[in-house]
Amino acid sequence: LRGEVGEPRPPVVVVMGHVDHGKTTLLDTIRKTNVAAREKGGITQHIGASVVQLPDGRKITFLDTPGHEAFTSLRARGAQVGDIAVLVVAADDGVMPQTVEAINHAKAFNIPIIVAVNKIDKPGADPQKVRRELSEYGLIPEEWGGDTIFVDVSAKTGQNVDQLLEYILLLAEIMELKADPHVPARGTILESKLDKQRGPVATVLVQEGTLRVGDVFVAGTTYGKVRAMLDDKGRKVQEAGPSTPVEVLGFEELPMAGDTFKVVKDEKKARQLAELRKARKEQMEKVSKGL
Ligand code: GTP
Ligand code: MG
Ligand code: NA
Repeated sequence: LRGEVGEPRPPVVVVMGHVDHGKTTLLDTIRKTNVAAREKGGITQHIGASVVQLPDGRKITFLDTPGHEAFTSLRARGAQVGDIAVLVVAADDGVMPQTVEAINHAKAFNIPIIVAVNKIDKPGADPQKVRRELSEYGLIPEEWGGDTIFVDVSAKTGQNVDQLLEYILLLAEIMELKADPHVPARGTILESKLDKQRGPVATVLVQEGTLRVGDVFVAGTTYGKVRAMLDDKGRKVQEAGPSTPVEVLGFEELPMAGDTFKVVKDEKKARQLAELRKARKEQMEKVSKGL
C-alpha cells in the first residue's frame, strides 16, 4: 500500500553504488555540506539520512549508503525503505561488484533506478561505456529506446547535478507518492546506537502519519515514549511527518536497524506488545537452535 493514499509526500531516494564512486560527495554537493571529507578512511559506514529542500519548497529525502562490500545489509535496508534508487557509477571505473549488488537490491524491492554517471570531469571518464555495461543488466538508457534515465554528472564540479534533481522530482511526481499525515505514526528504524549521555537513540524514518514528542511507541521488541526529536540538521523538533528521518530519544532498550516502529495508544499496550514480540522471538530462537 506504500504511497497510495493520503497527501503528497517527498520521495525517499536511496543512493547506492560501488565503494568510492562518489555517493557521499554527490550528496555533499546537493546539500552544500562536507561529510565525505570527515569520514573515517574515506568510507561511509552507516545510512546517512538527510532532507534537501529546493528553493521552490520541494523536498527530497536522501539515504546515503556505504559502497564497501561489508555493508550489504545496509544497502538492502536502504532499498527496502526507498521509493527511488539513484545508482552512482564512476565513469572512470564502470560497473563493479557492488554496482551489480545495488541493481539487485533495487530490483528485489521493485524500485525504479536513475543512473548518475559520476566523475565525468576526470580525464579517463567514459560515460558511454557505463551505458553499454549497464545495458547488460537491463538498464537501457532512454536515448537508446529503453526506460532508464541516465544523467552524466560531476559531484566534484556540480555539473548536471541540478538536472539529476529535476529527474528525481519528475519521477516522484509520476509515482504520485502519498502518505496520510493524520494517522498514528509508523516507520522504520534506520539505525540505532547507545549514547553515553542520552541512552538508546535511533533514527526513525517516518513513513505514515506524524510523529510527535510524547507519543508512545513500539519498535521491534522494545517500546518507549518520544522524549525528544532531532531533525537531520540536529535541530530539536516537535513533530515529524511522512518521509522525514528523525533521531528519537526515549527508547526503553536499543531497537535494531530494520525494525518497524509504530505509535500505539498507551504505555501499557506498548509494553505488552513489546513483551509479546520478545517472547515470540525467544521462542523462535529456541526452535531454530533445536533443529
Ligand atoms: P563509499 O561511501 O565509501 O562507498 O564512497 P562514496 O561512493 O561515498 O564516494 P566518496 O564520496 O567518498 O568519494 C570517493 C572519492 O572520489 C573522493 O576522493 C572524492 O573526492 C572523489 N570524487 C567523488 N565524486 C567525484 C567527481 O565527480 N569527480 C572527481 N574527480 N572525484 C570525485
Ligand atoms: Mg560514502
Ligand atoms: Na568513499
